[in-house]
Amino acid sequence: MKDEILKLKAETLKELERTKDPEALRDLEIKVLGRKGRLTEILRGLSGLSEEEKRDVGKLANEVKLELAAKLKEAKNHLLKFSRAEGAVDVTLPGEKLLRGHIHPITKVQNEIEDFFSSLGFMVLDGPELESDFFNFEALNIPRHHPARDMQDTFYIDHKNGEGEYDLVMRTHTSPVQVRAMRKYGAPLRSIMPGKCFRSEATDVRHEHTFYQVEGLMIDQNINLSHLKGILEALARHLYGPETKVRLRPKFYPFVEPGVNGEVSCFVCHGQGCRLCKSTGWLEIFGAGLVHPNVLRAGRIDPEKYQGFAFGFGLNRLVMLKYGIEDIRLFNSGDLRFLEQF
Ligand code: PHE
Repeated sequence: MKDEILKLKAETLKELERTKDPEALRDLEIKVLGRKGRLTEILRGLSGLSEEEKRDVGKLANEVKLELAAKLKEAKNHLLKFSRAEGAVDVTLPGEKLLRGHIHPITKVQNEIEDFFSSLGFMVLDGPELESDFFNFEALNIPRHHPARDMQDTFYIDHKNGEGEYDLVMRTHTSPVQVRAMRKYGAPLRSIMPGKCFRSEATDVRHEHTFYQVEGLMIDQNINLSHLKGILEALARHLYGPETKVRLRPKFYPFVEPGVNGEVSCFVCHGQGCRLCKSTGWLEIFGAGLVHPNVLRAGRIDPEKYQGFAFGFGLNRLVMLKYGIEDIRLFNSGDLRFLEQF
């Protein structure tokens, strides 16, 4: 009987080594140690033995039982650790999709515009968002207390100059960078200045307190309005297609003379009139004009020798038109349902 028990032990250990999955392991356990298993079966023969033999065989059976149980448990733990259920790497599973970030629609169009102007030999310049009252207004021919300031309601910063006047503002447009660029680089000069602007607005679908503009400036000898129109046409065609037309109509801005409103033929109806262009066939895009002599002087450039044109436009509006976005507030909302569409 002892031999039988030892044989069972040897066989079981051998089989244990071959067993590679938890289910087979469980079957083996039942087959050997279960209530109707082989060990129990062998021990059934115990009744025919003497007291001494019973004790002897019983002891051995018990030892073998404990040892096999321990080995089975060890094997089970080992298998579980490397089985799928316990989070092992299953190389056959499809990979987890990582969300990929992407560029904000404003940045995307800004990059496009920067590329376009770089190809025409324009520099791309930056200016401060917290601007002095001087560069934002005064150097642009908008004196303190002049009614033209009402066109751009701004955020003043709680900081006063020697005369007790507020002297810092969140810039209301990118035009102050015109004067900064003139002072830094002198004439001749070709540059665009994209950037963030701020106005104290009651927000709605078309107004936002924080928005983007792109400013353009070209200074050289004998610059006139047709140069301005040529550049605006090239930009409009780049953005909206080769059929696009541009027209300029007089408009007042204190820092240009003459000043114009640059309109682009509607890219939806091609001038026929539709909802987008409010049946006019034209979309108002640019503010522009020839740089006012006072502004050239503020930029330390001699207006007798040099002239220039400047233009500015709202990047948000351009992007809204391009993608059919109806609420300007979506841009700064951080709403992924909006952002993920681009
Ligand atoms: N700075 C003007 C605005 O924000 C736009 C403009 C720029 C007009 C340059 C003329 C020349 O409305």
